[in-house]
Amino acid sequence: MGKNRFGSFFLRKARSADRKLDQWLSYQIDKYTFSFRTADVNNYVKRIGGGYRGSDAEWQTVQQYWKRFGIMPKRIWYALYCNELGSYDPRFIPDPIWFHDIIPHYNNKNMASAYADKGLYNRIITGVKKPETVVKKMADHYYNGDGEQIITREDAEKRCMGEDHLIFKPSGGSKGAGILFYDRENKDSMTIPSILDSMGGGFVAQRIVKQHSDLARLNPGTLNTIRMISFHFKGEVHVLSAQLRIGNANARVDNYSAGGSAVAVKPDGWLHEKAVNHDMEWVDTTPNGIKLKEVRVPNYQGITDTVKRLHCQLPYFNILGWDFAAGEDGTPIMIEFNTKPGQNQIGGKEPTFGDLTDEVLEDVFIKKNHPRNR
Ligand SMILES: Nc1ncnc2c1ncn2[C@@H]1O[C@H](COP(=O)(O)OP(=O)(O)OP(=O)(O)O)[C@@H](O)[C@H]1O
Ligand SMILES: [Mg+2]
Repeated sequence: MGKNRFGSFFLRKARSADRKLDQWLSYQIDKYTFSFRTADVNNYVKRIGGGYRGSDAEWQTVQQYWKRFGIMPKRIWYALYCNELGSYDPRFIPDPIWFHDIIPHYNNKNMASAYADKGLYNRIITGVKKPETVVKKMADHYYNGDGEQIITREDAEKRCMGEDHLIFKPSGGSKGAGILFYDRENKDSMTIPSILDSMGGGFVAQRIVKQHSDLARLNPGTLNTIRMISFHFKGEVHVLSAQLRIGNANARVDNYSAGGSAVAVKPDGWLHEKAVNHDMEWVDTTPNGIKLKEVRVPNYQGITDTVKRLHCQLPYFNILGWDFAAGEDGTPIMIEFNTKPGQNQIGGKEPTFGDLTDEVLEDVFIKKNHPRNR
């Protein structure tokens, strides 16, 4: 073997080891970033008294289903997902498979962090109403609301202080973490300079969205948003599922982790009977006594059509989780999109891919035909 060929042999080996290390690291990071830590799942299942326990024979049908994809799913996920159903449906996707196999198959991870910047939404996504942004900071630089003009910190302070109420959101935030509110008339509110000091190098400062009265009345203190999962598959965008998130009475964001609850939305916009909260309790009324099944999401069809249309603007991601508000007149308002959304399977009570499950699993585990979007 000549010197050069010898060198390139080792270079190839080193690159392959580097890739494997990269994959392993990313797997470990994901494990600690997402909500499928074994300890969390065990806790959830404990809270619901052990969850669904089907017979061993019934469990074997689940194992049989997954065998042809070379997967041995863990029973605990079915104890969790099938608890409300009272029978096993093998098409439920355990979260580790969703986050480690399905999302990486359909979404381009390398493109994800740039697209996650909320400060860039006005350039990335067009043709939809979004919250009004007053000031933003990107890469440690202050900008005006549309990002066309570099401004000074003093100017940023002045613009923010001219507002009665603002929400400050970290650019790449998730689960409502790091969000701060400003209320000029409230003497307990943080001041604008202290908020700007604590927000870090990337954030958006937005006016508070005014929402439709049908959703405001469920919990007037939070913007109650619709989380919709869309899937670009074989030339068509499918809306897989949708949930309405309702904020906790003491919170200002509707996220699960802030005590919010989630209720599945039927295709005609009416809510299912029960919502589930972070403590895995199922409730059929809001804290202020409104029966969930008597509520219909305003302009649900409009939100669905908008999501299908907007998904086309994001070719690198075939699975997306969208947060939408319904404006006062029902206009869909895009709050954010997620390229690594959680599934809606608990609150939704339905397998993520429904009738498409077989085709999807064949794609991911048998044909392994990655979309060539890398
Ligand atoms: N402009 C706004 N006005 C009022 N409330 C808002 C506004 N923007 C966001 N919120 C509230 O804060 C929540 C979190 O906002 P957003 O979805 O942008 O951030 P996130 O932390 O990335 O959440 P996720 O976990 O969904 O990724 C929203 O679901 C909504 O309840
Ligand atoms: Mg969100």
